[in-house]
Amino acid sequence: MSEEVTYADLKFQDSSKIEHVQKFDQVGIKAPSAPSHGLHKRDLALILLCLLLMTGLGILGSMFHLTSKREMEKLKKLQNFKEELQKNVSLQLMYNMDICKKIRNISTTLQELATKLCYELYRREPEHKCKPCPKEWMWHEDSCYKLFKNYDTWQNSGKTCSAHNASLLKIRNKSVLEFIKSQELYNYWLGLSPRKVYTKYKNLDETLISSNWFTRNTSDLSDGKYCGFITNIEYVFYDYCTSRKYSVCEKLADPVKIESTLMNEEPDERM
Ligand SMILES: *[C@@H]1O[C@H](CO)[C@@H](O)[C@H](O)[C@H]1NC(C)=O
Ligand SMILES: *[C@@H]1O[C@H](CO)[C@@H](O)[C@H](O)[C@H]1NC(C)=O
Ligand SMILES: *[C@@H]1O[C@H](CO)[C@@H](O)[C@H](O)[C@H]1NC(C)=O
Ligand SMILES: *[C@@H]1O[C@H](CO)[C@@H](O)[C@H](O)[C@H]1NC(C)=O
Ligand SMILES: *[C@@H]1O[C@H](CO)[C@@H](O)[C@H](O)[C@H]1NC(C)=O
Repeated sequence: MSEEVTYADLKFQDSSKIEHVQKFDQVGIKAPSAPSHGLHKRDLALILLCLLLMTGLGILGSMFHLTSKREMEKLKKLQNFKEELQKNVSLQLMYNMDICKKIRNISTTLQELATKLCYELYRREPEHKCKPCPKEWMWHEDSCYKLFKNYDTWQNSGKTCSAHNASLLKIRNKSVLEFIKSQELYNYWLGLSPRKVYTKYKNLDETLISSNWFTRNTSDLSDGKYCGFITNIEYVFYDYCTSRKYSVCEKLADPVKIESTLMNEEPDERM
């Protein structure tokens, strides 16, 4: 009868539960006083281990303290070195900047000297290699000038200048005025704005002060009909823009090449 009950129980319980029950039974039977003894030994071992660990930690801590102190000192030294280096670098930079300024000053002075020297050479030999203007162009200060002998309208004269990367002459200061007067130009178109109202003539010095100089593209004539031309060293006259005159063009000179002032060969074939 009891066997039948066990069988039925077994049938309805899963295998793991059975094992568990069996193990519990075994422990319960075998050693009832053993656990307290084992626990004591384990505690001792644990305490010992703790002590060991704490000693180790203490040693490590003091070692860490020592090393960190040493590291801090090193860091401090490094910091000082860095600051000194930075100071030295900035001093060096200041010194270099000073040198740079001096070099710039020297090269500016050298450029000025070369320009003066080249101008002297140009006066003696108009096509000297150092001339900063194209061949057959005159040089005055930092500009180049050329007279074109083709008789043409104001607009076409402007185009002639444009074709040479230049524009019709504008006299904006005394220096250029004196230079142009020395050329004694007759019947040359100037880069003055075309006027709607006819003006017979203007004094050249007056014109110079006026801001009437043409700054736009000569291709668009705007609505002016009368264009200015220089016809003796004192006056600017006006005439129909469609009448024909010579032209005088101007453009900026290149910087004088320093080494070119030392050359004494044939001039370039520059145009
Ligand atoms: C900074 O410059 C001084 C004097 O020129 C020099 O004695 C020193 O070694 C330099 N320091 C560093 C970090 O280069
Ligand atoms: C170059 O330095 C000199 C003297 O040191 C000074 O007279 C001159 O004006 C400086 N020139 C330039 C272009 O800075
Ligand atoms: C005008 O300038 C352009 C561009 O700077 C250049 O290619 C051309 O050769 C120049 N023409 C003359 C006649 O100098
Ligand atoms: C006068 O004007 C010209 C341009 O029209 C310019 O190249 C030159 O540097 C000026 N001269 C002076 C002394 O301002
Ligand atoms: C001036 O205008 C003409 C026609 O509109 C154009 O072909 C030329 O490139 C212009 N020149 C400049 C310097 O703008």
